[in-house]
Amino acid sequence: MNIAYNMDCMEAMRQMPDNAFDLAVVDPPYGINFGEFNRTNKTADGYRYKSNKYHNARWDVSVPEEEYFTELFRVSKGQIIWGGNYYNLPPCKEFIFWFKRNPVSNFSDGEFAWTSFGGVAKCFDYAYYGNINSETERIHPTQKPVALYAWIYKLYAKPGMKILDTHLGSGSSRIAAYDAGLDFTGYEIDPTYFKLQEERFARHTSQTNLFLEEGL
Ligand SMILES: C[S@@+](CC[C@H](N)C(=O)[O-])C[C@H]1O[C@@H](n2cnc3c(N)ncnc32)[C@H](O)[C@@H]1O
Repeated sequence: MNIAYNMDCMEAMRQMPDNAFDLAVVDPPYGINFGEFNRTNKTADGYRYKSNKYHNARWDVSVPEEEYFTELFRVSKGQIIWGGNYYNLPPCKEFIFWFKRNPVSNFSDGEFAWTSFGGVAKCFDYAYYGNINSETERIHPTQKPVALYAWIYKLYAKPGMKILDTHLGSGSSRIAAYDAGLDFTGYEIDPTYFKLQEERFARHTSQTNLFLEEGL
């Protein structure tokens, strides 16, 4: 099963039994107002808005409430939480660092994920800027590469596992789960992003099926 719902993940999680998922790989809002930052350009006379190809990014004005994490830990056995440095989470031994090799010094060198695992820290070294490894289909301002999720699933998931993503965005996590043959459920609250990821997912699966049919 690989399914996405256009709904608030809080409403969904409140209905779920304990430990419904083996692994949650999530990327909630960081509360850094990313969309606004992306859209404004400071000029001598104040802020001037420039056009942005992405849909509204007001979702990033605040971090999830405490109840989100309580529910997430209740409904999943293991968790990987991107943006873990922005939330009030317990100390973490096996964190993940995604080294983006960003060439612009005022952009972040990478991103941090908190995990519930007790092994050693891991680094995913994967440049992702401009045309370097950027996916041809960019539909979301904070879209993560499919390759990042593929790497995570390879390390942390086994066939047959049930995966949860509460904040789907572009659906990269969903595509990587499809390719890895994992059971996947995702939620996206925004109707426009939901529709865009549905279309992206459909394009991906039809392409994959065509390759399989033609034995490529
Ligand atoms: C940081 S982005 C996720 C980006 C994603 N990892 C990707 O690779 O594209 C967070 C997304 O969560 C959505 N969102 C915010 N609050 C939500 C909620 N309560 N339930 C479901 N989705 C939510 C936002 O609309 C946004 O698309």
